[in-house]
Amino acid sequence: MSEGGWDEIAAWRDFRLGETGDLWHRALIDPTLLDVVGDVRGLDLLDLGCGNGYLSRRFARAGARVVGIDRSAPTLAFARRRERAAPLGVRFQVRDAARLTGTSGQSFDLVVANMTLMDIRHAAAAVREVARVLRPEGRFVFSISHPCFDVDTESTWVTELALYEEKIWRKVRRYREEREIDVPWKISETKKRWTKSYHRTLATYARYLREAGLAIVRLEEPAPLPEILEKSSQGRMIAEIPLHLVVEARPFARPPAAAAARSGGLNAPASRTPGRSHRGAVPRSGSPRRKRGTGSARRGSTPGS
Ligand SMILES: C[S@@+](CC[C@H](N)C(=O)[O-])C[C@H]1O[C@@H](n2cnc3c(N)ncnc32)[C@H](O)[C@@H]1O
Repeated sequence: MSEGGWDEIAAWRDFRLGETGDLWHRALIDPTLLDVVGDVRGLDLLDLGCGNGYLSRRFARAGARVVGIDRSAPTLAFARRRERAAPLGVRFQVRDAARLTGTSGQSFDLVVANMTLMDIRHAAAAVREVARVLRPEGRFVFSISHPCFDVDTESTWVTELALYEEKIWRKVRRYREEREIDVPWKISETKKRWTKSYHRTLATYARYLREAGLAIVRLEEPAPLPEILEKSSQGRMIAEIPLHLVVEARPFARPPAAAAARSGGLNAPASRTPGRSHRGAVPRSGSPRRKRGTGSARRGSTPGS
């Protein structure tokens, strides 16, 4: 299996996401993300972990100069194919978000990472890299699975009928236990594939940002559009309890030594070598697989989502 397992599902994901994103992106995550991102006209924008590039291309259509990076070469091949078929000027590059050195030396007004950070093993290093390539007035906007309510294999929906009223609960366990998770994707009636994901607490994400010199200036919990309520059995549940976070962070003034380390540009050396993604050991795979019905909105546990 390729690192992370994304190579193996590249074709399937490209088919699902197309040029507009699948149901979960289109009607749940992206509307909030795009609202936080705002007007991108004229901006130099880096799409971190861009996947098949549908969002990179959307930003390009909206007037941004876009670089899309992803570690999975097969995934980027689909992005490039789309770009060749209908050019928008997006530059797609295979690279690791935790080591952005080595290409154009560019810095950015905006870095976007849509549903990617929780899938990056060395996320602390990736956040430091984001801080390094951001311009002083730049912004970092990302979405992730909600660390508090979508604890992959260890969270699930519970519904009960009490006095004729249906109550929706979200059950979560092992929240504080940061770990690597094997996430299953049902790519056909008979085939499953797995990708790596990393559960981290909300405090850990906040710490990664702070240590990289980025301050959270906005935090949103996407609510579903009517399309999700119509098409997914999870819609009414997500309407009550969010399964995603959208965060905007900006560089804050830091001590001179730290500021010097952020020299800016994809070409400049990384400030630190990527290490472990957070304090404590990240166990290798072997954590229990997601049970059916645990209901992660990111993974779209309902078919066709
Ligand atoms: C859930 S997908 C999201 C893709 C895209 N942003 C979207 O919203 O469709 C996560 C992506 O992160 C990429 N990824 C994982 N680890 C990475 C890393 N270290 N550097 C760059 N990309 C990485 C994977 O290859 C995959 O395409």
